[in-house]
Amino acid sequence: MRRRLLANRVCAPRPNARAAGAPQPPQPPCVALISRSPSYSFCLSWQFSGVVADQWTTNSGLPVYNNDDSLTVNLRGPVLLEDYHLQEKLAHLNRERIPERLVHAVGASAKGYFEVTKDVSNFTFADFLSEPGKKTDVIVRFSTAVPSRGGAETVRDPRGFAVKFYTNEGNYDLVGNNMPVFFIRDGMKFADMVHAFKPNPVTNLIDNWRFVDFFSHHPESLHMFTHVLDDIGIPKDYRHMNGFGVHTFKWINREGKERLVKYHWKSSQGVESLLDEEAQAMGGKDSLHATRDLISSIAKGDFPEWVLHVQLMDPSSIASLDFDPLDATKTWPEDQFPLLEVGRMVLNKNINNFFNENEQLAFSPALVVPGITYSDDKLLQSRIFAYTDTQRYRVGPNYLSLPVNAPKSGILNNQMVDGILNFVNKPNEEVNYFPSKISGALLAERYPISGESICGKRMQQVIRKESNFAQPGELYRSWDADRQERFAERISKEMLLQPGVTEVLQKIWVHYWGEVDVGLGNKLMKKMDDAGVPL
Ligand code: HEM
Repeated sequence: MRRRLLANRVCAPRPNARAAGAPQPPQPPCVALISRSPSYSFCLSWQFSGVVADQWTTNSGLPVYNNDDSLTVNLRGPVLLEDYHLQEKLAHLNRERIPERLVHAVGASAKGYFEVTKDVSNFTFADFLSEPGKKTDVIVRFSTAVPSRGGAETVRDPRGFAVKFYTNEGNYDLVGNNMPVFFIRDGMKFADMVHAFKPNPVTNLIDNWRFVDFFSHHPESLHMFTHVLDDIGIPKDYRHMNGFGVHTFKWINREGKERLVKYHWKSSQGVESLLDEEAQAMGGKDSLHATRDLISSIAKGDFPEWVLHVQLMDPSSIASLDFDPLDATKTWPEDQFPLLEVGRMVLNKNINNFFNENEQLAFSPALVVPGITYSDDKLLQSRIFAYTDTQRYRVGPNYLSLPVNAPKSGILNNQMVDGILNFVNKPNEEVNYFPSKISGALLAERYPISGESICGKRMQQVIRKESNFAQPGELYRSWDADRQERFAERISKEMLLQPGVTEVLQKIWVHYWGEVDVGLGNKLMKKMDDAGVPL
């Protein structure tokens, strides 16, 4: 016990004492082990009365009466190796970071509820959507995509919009963005895309020529770039942006009828953005302004709200469309597939610990609930694997037992609990296998799953209806002339005229944008001429 050590006196031999027989230096006098009396009054007492609730302890529960001074020989030292409390503090600190998210490393989270406002029970039997008025707890994480930890929230970048619904039938994660489409349509390209966006492996600098080069091979990215380089590319903050599930999912009703579904979150605060100069000024003042805005709005009772809408499509419509609705680079025309209101989400509670409720918060598009499932969207299918895999690496194999990720129902009836940091206690449970005539564990009542039949050849090919240029063109033409001009200016400044962008790349991109809209192609040619780079 440290208390006894205080009173002890030891002679501390210096390390590497001379060989036997060698002349010995004078022995230091015996000295007291020094440990300053702490200022906490409850620690001053020599009458030890056990651990009190607010008393400082080591992680094993040992009461700590001095949390300021290392245990030394004499006032200065050396420090004794037996100062376990010091060791524990340093060793724990060394392990206080977990790997940052591969992407979306910067973000803010908040809690609240989702409330059903319209009856959608004809379309899905998901319990949390079963009737108007039904409320479900949620936690949401907004993020930027490319910057690493510590990066600014003022960058031009898609924003993550990830919602975890703690439903009675397990957690449902809707892991979307603030833009309705994505850069690629096949998970095979994800690693290359992330490499191209992240810093140059040689210099650790972001070089735009790298993604300009990569995406010159992928015109399916044009629709997403039309959103990213538009005014909405830098949201004013997280409250003033919409959210989208991006992928096509499936809703199934009690009768087993399936519909394809796309999700839209509409901000009740409205959509507002920062123009480039405003973002630069804001970034210089407060690089985490969006996190600050979210926290302070909630703290002062100004709770942000989003209204959830869906678009539904009967799978029989797929063949008649001139685009592939399961392609994540496409939107569905709202005049053909109108938005249907489902409910509203209110964020009314700030998190109270960033590490527990943001760093360790783990989403995955694989987490669905009965009545909702995946479509054959290729990109979504890759995500079903990627997220749970990264969480097992980043947070650990038992990440779903952590309070922020665990189902709120508190029911975890399976045997997948052991492994590093298992803290689910299953007392006296001898049957840790299935099936068993002894334990009699019950399976859930059967519910309809997707009954779509699948048959076909193995293939490694691009989808048939690529249609890369039509939708970005429609979007561009829906803007007024000023917005179009700002967009073209960003293409030329942030893509075409960036250092390292070769003439071949410039020609490819001007050609692509000309396919999107002839007027836009001509505008870019002129901008290149004006910049002294005739193509
Ligand atoms: C095959 C394609 C994709 C792969 C392999 C992929 C992979 C990942 C990975 C590994 C993470 C880090 C997760 C973590 O450590 O917690 C992540 C985060 C994220 N991704 Fe994706 N992603 C893909 C496409 C998308 C798409 C299409 C969207 C938008 C619809 C998206 C939205 C997000 C969001 C919002 C986060 C942050 C979640 C959070 O706040 O914790 N990703 N992605």
